[in-house]
Amino acid sequence: MKFIIKENYDEVAEAANEEMRRILTSADSLTIGLATGSSPIGLYKLMAKDNAEGITDFTKVTTFNLDEYIGLPTDHPETYRNFMNKNLFNQININLNKTHLPYASDKNDKNSCEEYEKMLNNYQLDVQLLGIGSNGHIGFNEPGSSFSSNTHIVELTEKTRNDNQRFFASLDEVPTHAITMGIASIMRAKEIILIACGENKAQAIYEMANVAKTEEIPATILQNHPNVICIVDKDAASKL
Ligand code: GLP
Repeated sequence: MKFIIKENYDEVAEAANEEMRRILTSADSLTIGLATGSSPIGLYKLMAKDNAEGITDFTKVTTFNLDEYIGLPTDHPETYRNFMNKNLFNQININLNKTHLPYASDKNDKNSCEEYEKMLNNYQLDVQLLGIGSNGHIGFNEPGSSFSSNTHIVELTEKTRNDNQRFFASLDEVPTHAITMGIASIMRAKEIILIACGENKAQAIYEMANVAKTEEIPATILQNHPNVICIVDKDAASKL
């Protein structure tokens, strides 16, 4: 696990964009795993800028996102599909048909999980971008998720719902369930880039790197991956 420690959010975005640019200019036909949340927004702006300047080309790129809420109306601004369209896909020359997000109609929709996993297995992720939850979750794999999990439906913890309340009018509006790529699905990526900023991520970043691998802290599985770059600001690195 390699760490790059930067001064602030903007520098983290720049360093992450350098890694993405390295990958995106290494081949035409790539499969990229993407993430949502506030952490990657700065990176997505820089990726869009590179694309506008002709440095990168997404015409042959396929994307898979980590996760999606269950139960929000499709036109809700906080669905991860709408987040991705707004913050990245509508800003770059990607074919929207090549962008994939998991979708489940309700918390019992196991078929959709199997379909997403099947699709994922037809590709090899060249890179997976990750954020991290303050409880150490990756994607929406909450503490206790099996390290061998594939795409599945999860009940969100109170901590995660509280963390994400800032995007909604009230806690009641925050969905209780989500569909997420599993930990095994994430670990199959050739390379992983994890970004995190702010003091509220410091404990999770410390535990990810230093606590013995445990399903209670999902991000500890990344200790087993041969090619992980963690790009964090000094606040998120403060307990390392
Ligand atoms: C969210 C997402 C994760 C994300 C994490 C951190 O709930 N499901 O994929 O990495 O929590 O989010 P943020 O970057 O907003 O702190």
